[in-house]
Amino acid sequence: MSGNSLRYSTGMILIHWLTALFVLGAWLTARGGREMVQDPPLLHFTLGLAVLALVVPRLILRLAEGAPAGDGQNGWLATGAKAGHGLLYLLLIGLPITGWYAASRMGVPISFLGVELPAIAAKVEGRPGLIAELHENAGTFILILAGLHALMALWHQFVRRDGTMRRMSLR
Ligand code: HEM
Ligand code: HEM
Repeated sequence: MSGNSLRYSTGMILIHWLTALFVLGAWLTARGGREMVQDPPLLHFTLGLAVLALVVPRLILRLAEGAPAGDGQNGWLATGAKAGHGLLYLLLIGLPITGWYAASRMGVPISFLGVELPAIAAKVEGRPGLIAELHENAGTFILILAGLHALMALWHQFVRRDGTMRRMSLR
């Protein structure tokens, strides 16, 4: 589905930039291993869960409104952009959930905006396991992918001069 407008809707744009800020914040406040258990980083949980909360209205808006028409792309560039965006969406959902799972396995209590959340896995002694490791690696991978994504956006903007940044800008 494709919209007629030149840019994403205000809601999509606000959520895009808020999400980018929160992902960066979650990465900067991340801790691993023993430190995580002894002094749980509440800010990491809050920012990460906010990413999950924002992806819900974002996907609803995306399905309802589609993307702005005509980004002038075709062929492998368009396919690459679609795959990259799809992977970013997948990580925006998968990362917070695997983090929540990891915290549960470690017996670390988590809350979101003052509301305590239930554990989604049983506590284990020792290492929290494969999914926790997946979370740690995916947490850095999303930053690399978003960095590449930003570079591509800047390439479009300043080399191809096709106005791509306007699609995700309020004015
Ligand atoms: C963690 C950081 C980021 C994430 C997770 C992210 C994610 C996404 C996703 C999933 C889309 C596709 C939207 C859709 O069609 O539904 C998108 C579009 C876009 N993003 Fe990002 N983004 C991030 C950071 C950035 C940065 C830093 C820039 C620019 C420097 C940027 C520029 C854009 C632009 C221009 C579009 C519109 C692409 C188009 O449709 O032509 N993003 N972003
Ligand atoms: C966009 C969201 C998130 C990003 C980018 C992210 C990123 C990261 C990174 C990079 C690490 C590794 C830190 C290190 O080893 O020094 C980490 C660890 C961890 N994160 Fe997240 N995280 C996110 C969301 C969450 C959420 C929502 C939770 C819990 C509700 C969470 C819980 C944890 C836990 C428990 C660990 C420690 C895992 C271990 O030591 O095995 N994360 N996170």
